[in-house]
Amino acid sequence: MGEGMLSGKTAVVMGVQNQWSIAWKIAEALAGAGADVAITYIDDRAKKNAEKLAETVPGMRTYVCNVSNDEEMVALRESLKADYGKLDILIHSIAYAPAAELTNPFLETTRQGFNIALETSAYSLVAVSRELTPIMDAGGSILTLTYLGSDRVFPKYNVMGVAKAALESCVRYLAADLGEKGIRVNAISAGPIKTASARGIPGFSSMQEQAVEKAPLGDVFEPEHVANMAAFLCSDGAAGITGDVIFVDGGYHAMGV
Ligand SMILES: NC(=O)c1ccc[n+]([C@@H]2O[C@H](COP(=O)([O-])OP(=O)(O)OC[C@H]3O[C@@H](n4cnc5c(N)ncnc54)[C@H](O)[C@@H]3O)[C@@H](O)[C@H]2O)c1
Repeated sequence: MGEGMLSGKTAVVMGVQNQWSIAWKIAEALAGAGADVAITYIDDRAKKNAEKLAETVPGMRTYVCNVSNDEEMVALRESLKADYGKLDILIHSIAYAPAAELTNPFLETTRQGFNIALETSAYSLVAVSRELTPIMDAGGSILTLTYLGSDRVFPKYNVMGVAKAALESCVRYLAADLGEKGIRVNAISAGPIKTASARGIPGFSSMQEQAVEKAPLGDVFEPEHVANMAAFLCSDGAAGITGDVIFVDGGYHAMGV
């Protein structure tokens, strides 16, 4: 879909853990649309997977970047600058909360768990935007991934819902700051998709079953739908869209009961 739509653009997609990662599906879609794509992984354990995946796309480079480490974000900018000269597209597909925070009642959320979830899943968008926009000289597009749990209560989504609410707010404030540089900032709110992170949420399968049952479009929770929207939002066709949360959930969010 959209072959050539992103020709001449350089993208970095952050948050590739394995072949099921939404980040990886987005990386493939951006490359398919003609972009030069780099991917990032969190640490040495994820490195092998990322490198193996990157080998399947000609010219794709990989970099390490733990978003809790300021030096690694600066190093990422310097590497991208040296290897590509510029950046047009930044995809942030990163979230984390300690497992206990997703199993205990929300009332039991710890200070530490709250801080970790919010820092990794929301503040990191602000941090990478600040560190990487200096090489987005010709404007561009920043995109993150969110979930309806920001707005509504889903059992056990807990502090991740709070983090997603903060993330969506960060999208709006960043859009306001970066508009004058011609940089657009948006989020895709995806329906439930089976990935490593999703499997860490207790009751994820029943969340997915209910979504399939209630969504007007039924069983459309494929990462490719999200990836195609990501490619569009990063293209010049979306030049008028910023500060927005776009749902790619088969219409589930529109339903009452
Ligand atoms: N899977 C779903 O159903 C779903 C639905 C809506 C939104 N999302 C969001 O999509 C995004 C990607 O998740 P996914 O489902 O592809 O799972 P995933 O586990 O494949 O991706 C999550 C990524 O976050 C990375 N990460 C965590 N802490 C990090 C850190 N400190 N520094 C750098 N990277 C770090 C992990 O290494 C991993 O690559 C997340 O923001 C998630 O909340 C997922």
